[in-house]
Amino acid sequence: SDSVNIAIDGPAGAGKSTVAKLVSEELGFLYIDTGAMYRALTLAALREAVNMNSESELSQLLSKCHIQLVVNEEGASVLLNDEDVSKDIRSLEVNQNVSLVSSWEAVRVEMVERQRQLAQKTHSVLDGRDIGTYVLPNAQLKVFLTASVSERARRRHEEQLKKGMPSDYEQLKIDIARRDELDSTRAFAPLKKAEDAIEIDTTTLSISQVAQAITDLAKERT
Ligand code: C5P
Repeated sequence: SDSVNIAIDGPAGAGKSTVAKLVSEELGFLYIDTGAMYRALTLAALREAVNMNSESELSQLLSKCHIQLVVNEEGASVLLNDEDVSKDIRSLEVNQNVSLVSSWEAVRVEMVERQRQLAQKTHSVLDGRDIGTYVLPNAQLKVFLTASVSERARRRHEEQLKKGMPSDYEQLKIDIARRDELDSTRAFAPLKKAEDAIEIDTTTLSISQVAQAITDLAKERT
């Protein structure tokens, strides 16, 4: 396809979604939050008490989940079978189960199929764990964002508080370290920097500095 795609990967809380949103606005591209898709399925599994250790049950559930990523003036929202679940997918329970849900190959294959379809339709910025390595190996620009665990927990903490949601910094640090571990060691399409990705350590950078650096790179390449 002719659409331009930018892949932004990295561990939880490295600032991917905030940065991806800014870059997509600046370039006029669609923002595709792939983590939100895995979170929506996790929420559905929790609600319907689906066994998250069962690959086949999850994959059957996913076939009944219509997941839409909508961007409007109020920001990005996520619809699960037409219900706005943007807040619900950020709960502690979802945080604690999403890495298990997204570790299953059958789940990933279907999600990746949906992500590729979205990406080939329009110029887009995708954020996730495996975009550069697996979903879009031919993306025009691949960025790998990192930051220390404590800095990432601090950012998530502030983000939650700003949204008026309950937050526990120490708990977030534990969750983030655990998700890092699970996401990087899973057998199928683990979190990993693509060989041709540009790594940016954001620990001491502001959001706008990171977004600017990526936008500049994108303009050079497209
Ligand atoms: O990006 P976010 O933190 O919302 O992602 C939630 C979880 O979804 C990750 O910890 C990971 O387990 C999973 N995920 C994934 N592949 C992606 C995006 C997210 O496995 N492309």
